[in-house]
Amino acid sequence: MANNNLANAKTAKNDEFYTQYQDIQNEINAYLEYDPDVFRGKTVLLPCDDPEWSNFTKFFAQNFENIGLKKLISTSYAVESKKIKDWQPTLFETDSPYYDADKSRTNGKIFILDEDINNDGRFNINDLHWSYLEGDGDFRSDEVKALRDEADIIITNPPFSLFREFFSWIMEAEKKFVIIGHQNAITYKEVFPYIKSNNVWLGLGFSGGAAHFISNYQDVATAGNHIEGMIRVSGVVWYTNIDHGRRHEPLPLMSMEDNIIYSKHKEIRGKGYKRYENYEAIDIPYTDAIPIDYDGEMGVPKTFLDKYCPEQFEIIGLGHGNLGVKLGIKPYDRALKKLNPGMRDGDLFYMEDGLPIVPYTRIVIRKKQ
Ligand SMILES: C[S@@+](CC[C@H](N)C(=O)[O-])C[C@H]1O[C@@H](n2cnc3c(N)ncnc32)[C@H](O)[C@@H]1O
Repeated sequence: MANNNLANAKTAKNDEFYTQYQDIQNEINAYLEYDPDVFRGKTVLLPCDDPEWSNFTKFFAQNFENIGLKKLISTSYAVESKKIKDWQPTLFETDSPYYDADKSRTNGKIFILDEDINNDGRFNINDLHWSYLEGDGDFRSDEVKALRDEADIIITNPPFSLFREFFSWIMEAEKKFVIIGHQNAITYKEVFPYIKSNNVWLGLGFSGGAAHFISNYQDVATAGNHIEGMIRVSGVVWYTNIDHGRRHEPLPLMSMEDNIIYSKHKEIRGKGYKRYENYEAIDIPYTDAIPIDYDGEMGVPKTFLDKYCPEQFEIIGLGHGNLGVKLGIKPYDRALKKLNPGMRDGDLFYMEDGLPIVPYTRIVIRKKQ
């Protein structure tokens, strides 16, 4: 029970992390560098936000003219509906003629920027106008769905606990998007098929594969990583279907022969690559150890996707779980279970010193022919 409470509290806090301006700017700049007109004439929706102080709203309102937006809409989720309810209305809200003490707790808000309200000849953050939504701002409500349908591009850091649902919500409407999520979501059955078919990919990303988010809750980061008022989350990535330059840069790699002689990884140097027992492919424990001259299939770590260039490699499938079964990974010999009780059908494995080894989730790829 105590563990359950702890897990619930953690999930609730994970849903209330706020993104730093610099991280949003770095990511969005990658799309603008690739295509300066990517946002021109477009309606952008920022759902699951808190427009009064969210950096997403600030960034897009401040850059409205530069990037040529047609309309910016952002919506927030009602305090009463949040898992953590210690929320105070801002002065911006309480000082506004539209302030309503009841709705302030039970309704979401919508902010729109689409006209020069103050007639100063510019479209910027001072032209944002707001009102309460009819409902609580849940992205699954008909009201927010209608805003989704109106938008061309959806951008946010959605609640981590609802990532699968949020992702499917975007895909069913066939929208362009840029959203933050955990790298574990790559293997979700709702997500992986889009990655495999090159309809979704990873964005530029956070440096070092971890990010600091603005949070009121206690951090778990080690002293060296701790920043006051922030929480460090590792393994976070951006998911998108908008193109950027990094994904078209091929990885610089060595031949198989050179890897075996010079690899910095002791598992490869002087030894070579393991071959799976239940699928015709070799195991690549590190992305930088992919042999560039190997034509067969290879199982690579998930983090390969940070460097994936679709002109260099193609994704064949996932070597894990049900998607692994679907890929054709053969069931393991039941006698091996005694040697490795964690074995599951659909997971790739190789033998080492007489023991079956299941490497951490592998994506199966092949060099582009
Ligand atoms: C991870 S935070 C990110 C906030 C903001 N987008 C940012 O990055 O700065 C997710 C936000 O979604 C809100 N939220 C949680 N469940 C929601 C739902 N079902 N519909 C809409 N928003 C929700 C949370 O209260 C929180 O404000």
